[in-house]
Amino acid sequence: MIIVRTIDETRDAVARARMAGATIGFVPTMGFLHEGHLSLVDVARERGASFVVVSIFVNPKQFGPKEDFSRYPRDEARDMAMLDDRNVDVVFLPEVETMYPSGSQTMVSVAGVAKPLEGERRPGHFDGVATVVLKLFDIVMPDVAIFGRKDAQQCAVIDRMVRDLDVPVHLEFAETVREEDGLAMSSRNSYLTADERKIAPVLHRALRAGEEAITHGIHDVESIEKLMLRVADGIDVDYLVVVDPLTFEAPIDFDRELLLAGAIRLGKTRLIDNIRVPRR
Ligand code: PAJ
Repeated sequence: MIIVRTIDETRDAVARARMAGATIGFVPTMGFLHEGHLSLVDVARERGASFVVVSIFVNPKQFGPKEDFSRYPRDEARDMAMLDDRNVDVVFLPEVETMYPSGSQTMVSVAGVAKPLEGERRPGHFDGVATVVLKLFDIVMPDVAIFGRKDAQQCAVIDRMVRDLDVPVHLEFAETVREEDGLAMSSRNSYLTADERKIAPVLHRALRAGEEAITHGIHDVESIEKLMLRVADGIDVDYLVVVDPLTFEAPIDFDRELLLAGAIRLGKTRLIDNIRVPRR
């Protein structure tokens, strides 16, 4: 495994692999890795990548001023060991100055699908995500890039950006990896106290209750959302909603695929999760 920190070194390593006939897979992350991240490396290989690049960059542009950028968990040595174990070929570990040298003035902004839910609660977040992901694509120039469905709206925003800006990459979305009690794996789970960790699976349980209601024929938004809120009684719920997975707005048609999405706060930690309900 090669560890690179500059754009030129990354491009050189990828160019050499490409000349040797490799198909390049790419998994962007912010590090403090867990099995969810590592599953994306496996998906890259399953989807034909013979050379896998992982980036670790805690992107300041996607954090709001009151968010957790400065305390976001970091453990480079542990991350490197995990990626090496998974036979990753290149890890790109840029500094903030490498990605955003002073004087940079351009941001990518996706409208529509980036506006509801996370977009509304985290102003500027998806602009930061779209900007860094486009830059990373321009540096790595992968054939295929893998994103986790745990961040469903992020997947939709990147998909929209790739189509709108004719970015020559094939996107693949991977299923959410969970702990045994249903909690979606997340670097931010490390913030939870022991008591909060015990409560945290309630988010997944609430979404599951919504899923069950839909599959049992309850097809009105209000009843489903009320039911999910009842499961999460006593919890600081940011939202628990049923949406159309293309728009992230309220669904107009219960015969199509639906998405149940939620965000809760436990102490200082904000957790998100979602479940897809396939079309009838
Ligand atoms: P990060 O939160 O580190 O996540 C990196 C990738 O791992 C994302 O595609 C995310 O959806 C996926 N992922 C996280 N938890 C997962 C889980 N439990 N199961 C499956 N996949 C999971 O998302 C980001 O970083 C950043 O916004 C980034 C795309 C790197 C841009 O900065």
